[in-house]
Amino acid sequence: MYNHFFQWWKIALAQEERISIMKIRSVKSSDYYAISPLINEWWGGRQMSDMLPKLFFDHFNNTSFIAEEDGHIIGFLIEFLSQSNSDVAYIHFVGVNPVYRKNHIGKQLYNNFFNVIRENNRKVVRAVTSPVNKVSIAYHTKMGFSIENGDIEIDGVPVVSNYDGPNKDRVLFVKNVD
Ligand SMILES: CC(C)(COP(=O)(O)OP(=O)(O)OC[C@H]1O[C@@H](n2cnc3c(N)ncnc32)[C@H](O)[C@@H]1OP(=O)(O)O)[C@@H](O)C(=O)NCCC(=O)NCCS
Repeated sequence: MYNHFFQWWKIALAQEERISIMKIRSVKSSDYYAISPLINEWWGGRQMSDMLPKLFFDHFNNTSFIAEEDGHIIGFLIEFLSQSNSDVAYIHFVGVNPVYRKNHIGKQLYNNFFNVIRENNRKVVRAVTSPVNKVSIAYHTKMGFSIENGDIEIDGVPVVSNYDGPNKDRVLFVKNVD
């Protein structure tokens, strides 16, 4: 009963006060040990944690961010500036605690990163997602990303088949940052 009330209270707080008390800070190495065990649950049971090894928490600190409330991680964003293309930045992973979703936490993390991109004179942001991840497609579309042409279409969405290897189809997002 107490847990139920506590969960309700957290959701109510999320709707009323979330934005004002959330802080965004840079990622540090030790965040890996807090975030990695959460990933598969936050991705709805998909096995995703292997795609975010510790190296991302060690070598991309300047371009990756944590959203936290009272010291608790409620969202994160892992990105980097492309080493190969001096115009491009790449978003690797974004996740928000399911209890806190649709409160513009993901949006604030992205806007924070767009400022970093501008400071570094990058003009283009890229990201990819799996065609099954409809939430990611809706979120990126709302955040102003376009979907690049594919060789197949799934549920009306252009998809590049075998992009990440056999049977690993991907939706490719791109956004220009002024
Ligand atoms: C994708 C994700 C990070 C979005 O985080 P969020 O904090 O809930 O998103 P926001 O509240 O900032 O939403 C930004 C915009 O996207 C829209 N949006 C977010 N989730 C949506 C959904 N499920 N369906 C439709 N639109 C959605 C919001 O309505 C908002 O639009 P608005 O500015 O017009 O109000 C979150 O759902 C998540 O962690 N999903 C699981 C992990 C994942 O799939 N990550 C992406 C691939 S790496």
